[in-house]
Amino acid sequence: MQKQEEKNAGRGESVFAVQVAAMRLESPAVLSIELRHIEDRALPPASPGSHVDVRLANGVTRPYSVVSGEEGVYVLAVKRETDSRGGSAYVHDRLRVGDMIQVSAPRNQFALADHDGPSLLLAGGIGITPLLPMARTLERKGRPWRLHYTTSHAAVAPFARELRQLGERVHLHSSASAGRIDLGALVSDAVPGTHFYCCGPEGMLDAFTEATRDIDPARVHVERFGAAAPPPDAGSFELRLARSGRSVMVGPELSTLDALLQAGVNVDYSCRQGICGSCEVHVLEGIPEHRDEILTEAERASNKTMMACCSRACSATLVVDL
Ligand code: FES
Repeated sequence: MQKQEEKNAGRGESVFAVQVAAMRLESPAVLSIELRHIEDRALPPASPGSHVDVRLANGVTRPYSVVSGEEGVYVLAVKRETDSRGGSAYVHDRLRVGDMIQVSAPRNQFALADHDGPSLLLAGGIGITPLLPMARTLERKGRPWRLHYTTSHAAVAPFARELRQLGERVHLHSSASAGRIDLGALVSDAVPGTHFYCCGPEGMLDAFTEATRDIDPARVHVERFGAAAPPPDAGSFELRLARSGRSVMVGPELSTLDALLQAGVNVDYSCRQGICGSCEVHVLEGIPEHRDEILTEAERASNKTMMACCSRACSATLVVDL
């Protein structure tokens, strides 16, 4: 029996034991799951744009945006990934109504800005999950907004029925037809002062970044799941493993974690996205280049710890406690 609320041993964050109260196929590849506290208490409110880390019974932790979470019950949407490493495949194939799992408290790095001006929401694929609650909230508050949502087939888009109920502010596009959206045109045609929000596949985010290059960054909001890809000019560095005396080279094409795993070094990991803390490695010498989402500024500045799945090195050598 899971404890009703306990601490994440890795990073000291609150996690909650929840039960899967309902599951629904929103599209052929997207399943929504409703999670309730196992004692039917209210879960912490999740504002639009929040995500929670879901710890599954197979030991895998994954971040999922909260489609609905302001009433103490979370609805998440999980797309089956063709290259699933145990997250989405587990949710689709093994998770069932009545199962108990754990979720973190919600975190929001993609929150709606506090302004009364227009908002342009741009979603691609499963990227609709943080933007749908934003659209609901903007509509409820009577603020001007529009949503453009590109999916492979608009007719079977996840949440299409609810989106259509939101009215003519929602524009559905099929990437399988000629309906691909022109992000540059949408951005340049927007009313001055518009805030732009985008979540979708990497190609869409890159196009969005390009389209908003000259816009005040305070009005540009992007949700990228997981750690940013290593920069194209990422260099090599040496990892010295203090306990074993071994040395492992990390090339520009490999993450620190993958270099360790390929060298046969046993390192815990789960999300591979810099959000769960399970791959934390203690640094004894050298300067890490942090690319995770969980260390505090003080922890980063201490140079004493790093997340191996996404972080690299500023110095030529890192000595780690492995
Ligand atoms: S594996 Fe989750 S933070 Fe690295």
